Amino acid sequence: MSRFPATRMRRLRRSPALRRLVQQARLHPSQLVWPLFFTQSGTRQPVDGMPGVHQHPVSDAADIAQRAVGLGLGGVLVFGIPDRKDEVGSAAYDEDGISQEAVRALRAAASHLVVIADTCLCAYTDHGHCGVIKDGRVHNDATLDLLARTAVSQARAGADIVAPSDMMDGRVAAIRAALDSADLSDTVVMAYSAKYASAFYGPFRSAADSAPQFGDRRGYQMDPANSDEALREIALDVEEGADIIMVKPGLPSLDIIQRAKQRFGVPLAAYQVSGEYSAIILAGEHGVMDSTRAMDESLVALRRAGADVIITYAAAEVAERLIGSASES
Ligand code: PBG
Repeated sequence: MSRFPATRMRRLRRSPALRRLVQQARLHPSQLVWPLFFTQSGTRQPVDGMPGVHQHPVSDAADIAQRAVGLGLGGVLVFGIPDRKDEVGSAAYDEDGISQEAVRALRAAASHLVVIADTCLCAYTDHGHCGVIKDGRVHNDATLDLLARTAVSQARAGADIVAPSDMMDGRVAAIRAALDSADLSDTVVMAYSAKYASAFYGPFRSAADSAPQFGDRRGYQMDPANSDEALREIALDVEEGADIIMVKPGLPSLDIIQRAKQRFGVPLAAYQVSGEYSAIILAGEHGVMDSTRAMDESLVALRRAGADVIITYAAAEVAERLIGSASES
């Protein structure tokens, strides 16, 4: 590379057209996944601390599905909020449970929409943990069968993808085997592989009513100080049959996204979680930064690091903007 003055880095920054020509990472609606909360009863309710995000009755599903298809979104990610909770999260694997009903309604409204179901027990257990409790601890192996049953019921309801977010060891293999033996070998598994125990999940736990009633999730989610552990988690999930791996939270994990993409070369999703979303939107509402630009910058950074798929609560708004700016130029 020659030096200044032969090399002038600013040459390619001179005009919008030149900048666009050499732009490397881009956002596209087809790579954005929109997380949605569905409740079993009640009306549409705004979620505290997450401006623009709602809990929806299943009767909203058809409109939402049409909007997602109209915007060309990559998919929607369904979270269910059940009416009843118990010790073993039985509403999670009920054929007529809330996530199954929501998946069915979305599927009925839009046959080609990619419908993803979050597979976990925490919103369905009365103690709020992601697995069953034995002797005061979250019991790994006793949880696997329940997760597998949940995934099978979600796939039967019409989910294209099941997304285990519990962080139990061996759950991808258990889910893959259960799907295959239920004649659901085409159902995709998107594993929350590298999931950190993060403060950035704060707003989600009120949205999904899934906060642990005792202790915390550090016995199963990862320590944010560790990176080799994240790569081991991902390697195990790939070996167990995960089709798509996920890293979460997004922006605090750019190093993991980059290493995972380079090492494994499998489709990779990054989740811009509730706290990341809310921090940007609320800062914008307080006039301390431009939330539109901050949102685009955060999401494009995930792409630059190596994410193929981005899960964000802003998916619909961002897609609208992308479509608008494409038609302007
Ligand atoms: C459930 C689950 C959580 C999120 C996705 N699935 C919460 C948690 O683990 O506590 C977080 C999503 C977000 O914060 O947007 N296990």
